[in-house]
Amino acid sequence: MFILAIETSCDDTAAAVLEADRRVLASVVSSQFEVHAQFGGIVPELASRCHIEAIWPVVNQALTDAGVSLQDIELITATRGPGLVGSLLVGFTFAKAVALVRQIPCTGVDHLAGHLLAILLEKEEQRPTFPYTALVVSGGNTSLFAVDSTTEFRLLGRTRDDAAGEAFDKVAKLLDLGYPGGPTVSRLAKQGDADAISFPRAWLAKDSLDFSFSGLKTSVANYVNQCRQKDRPVPTEDICASFEQAVVDVLVEKTLCAAEQAGHQQVVIGGGVAANNKLRQQLKARCAEAGFRCFTPSPEYCTDNAAMIGLAGYFQFIAGSTVGPDTDAFSRSPLN
Ligand code: KG4
Repeated sequence: MFILAIETSCDDTAAAVLEADRRVLASVVSSQFEVHAQFGGIVPELASRCHIEAIWPVVNQALTDAGVSLQDIELITATRGPGLVGSLLVGFTFAKAVALVRQIPCTGVDHLAGHLLAILLEKEEQRPTFPYTALVVSGGNTSLFAVDSTTEFRLLGRTRDDAAGEAFDKVAKLLDLGYPGGPTVSRLAKQGDADAISFPRAWLAKDSLDFSFSGLKTSVANYVNQCRQKDRPVPTEDICASFEQAVVDVLVEKTLCAAEQAGHQQVVIGGGVAANNKLRQQLKARCAEAGFRCFTPSPEYCTDNAAMIGLAGYFQFIAGSTVGPDTDAFSRSPLN
């Protein structure tokens, strides 16, 4: 069975072609980075317009790369939510329209389910078995889940304010490092001292699996403002390293705490921030110490992509959950 998958929840237009045995035949991602960079963040109206322009060329490229035609596709799946509704509607409506014309089934995927299952795109020996604890950490979400099967997810904890990726992006903006901030902050952090500045870690209540990053962001803002007011040079690299360390410490310890509370032996990460090297290394090291197995998807399956949507959409199809032309997109995830 050939599956065509589409992802347009935010600022990337992505399409993938998969086989039902999880082989990814093509995965294409068209970034809108240059359009939004000049505004220092995503402009929703521009994002949907860009998706409209990109959707057919991106799908066409994925079909060409996979060596199949639209006539060969037997299942089409797209992200139904959460995200920017104007963006979601472009991909989801495209998928429903193709399904209607071709008379093939269509599934609508929760973007978070895609991140939770992305690890299953890896080679068999690099995949966890069910159940496992998963941290989804991206620009819009920071949540911990118990993943019981291909379609069963239980929320264990989530951020009460900013997502970790959002905090990276806001700190980058404070330091005039451009958008998106995560990769740049992480690159500069390598040249800085992670112990130089003592930024706060919000642990919240004892054993709490919730997160909070707004205090950390404010603390970085105050530090930068003080430097500027006193005409002191802003130690950008040290700020990046100390900030990154504060985020990673909390993400890692709470993920381990969640696995312990859930009684799981396996820990998985997903989402754009899961591409962060410090997070990957520290999580692996702490899991090894604490006796958990740690699974990290390759970076291309951490950031937004359609291959993970294809896999989640296929599992949904197997479970008998398809959508019709009237099914609407949603901006907030029922999983969260
Ligand atoms: O999952 P994603 O591609 O899009 C969604 O938000 O759904 O994640 C994008 C987020 C952005 O906030 C970006 O700054 C962050 O992931 N990010 C990183 C890194 N790569 C991407 N944050 C820290 N370190 C990175 N290497």
